[in-house]
Amino acid sequence: VDEIREMVDNDLGFQQAPLMCYSRTKTLLFISNDKKVVGCLIAEHIQWGYRVIEEKLPVIRSEEEKVRFERQKAWCCSTLPEPAICGISRIWVFSMMRRKKIASRMIECLRSNFIYGSYLSKEEIAFSDPTPDGKLFATQYCGTGQFLVYNFINGQNST
Ligand code: COA
Repeated sequence: VDEIREMVDNDLGFQQAPLMCYSRTKTLLFISNDKKVVGCLIAEHIQWGYRVIEEKLPVIRSEEEKVRFERQKAWCCSTLPEPAICGISRIWVFSMMRRKKIASRMIECLRSNFIYGSYLSKEEIAFSDPTPDGKLFATQYCGTGQFLVYNFINGQNST
């Protein structure tokens, strides 16, 4: 798991983070039919999330234009903490396997397995400092651009 996390961190451009507290994290791996790791999700317990503030979109004609705009702009979030349970510290899918709902399936699996006997709602999940891809994915998965984020400043607000 550590080796995969290192590879994912390199791909995400993260500095190598110190070892995480394993008892507080859950790692899900998505294994392809040919037995390769093509997806990885690392989740941790959190207490608070902060809602992304949606910027007003300029008049956008096509889906392509919307994606281009989303990729370029920075994101801002509220300073008001909202209770949350599960933080997605990292979510990654092998580049050749993207847009096949692998990330969506990993989150579904996370929601039913993060806490024994309970199925987390989308409102109880927050994303750590989302990348442009992560933001586009989270907006689609959560059904809103105002999803929860955490850890947006290195080390701050983490649990
Ligand atoms: N651009 C636009 N929409 C996107 C998108 C992208 N790059 N990635 C996901 N979506 C939206 C789409 O609406 C998609 O449904 P569709 O393909 O039917 O249109 C929906 O989210 C579900 O996407 P899914 O197939 O489940 O996501 P994925 O398996 O491709 O994984 C990431 C998404 C973000 C994990 C993947 O792009 C990735 O690993 N990126 C590099 C690492 C990274 O940035 N991780 C995010 C950290 S916060």
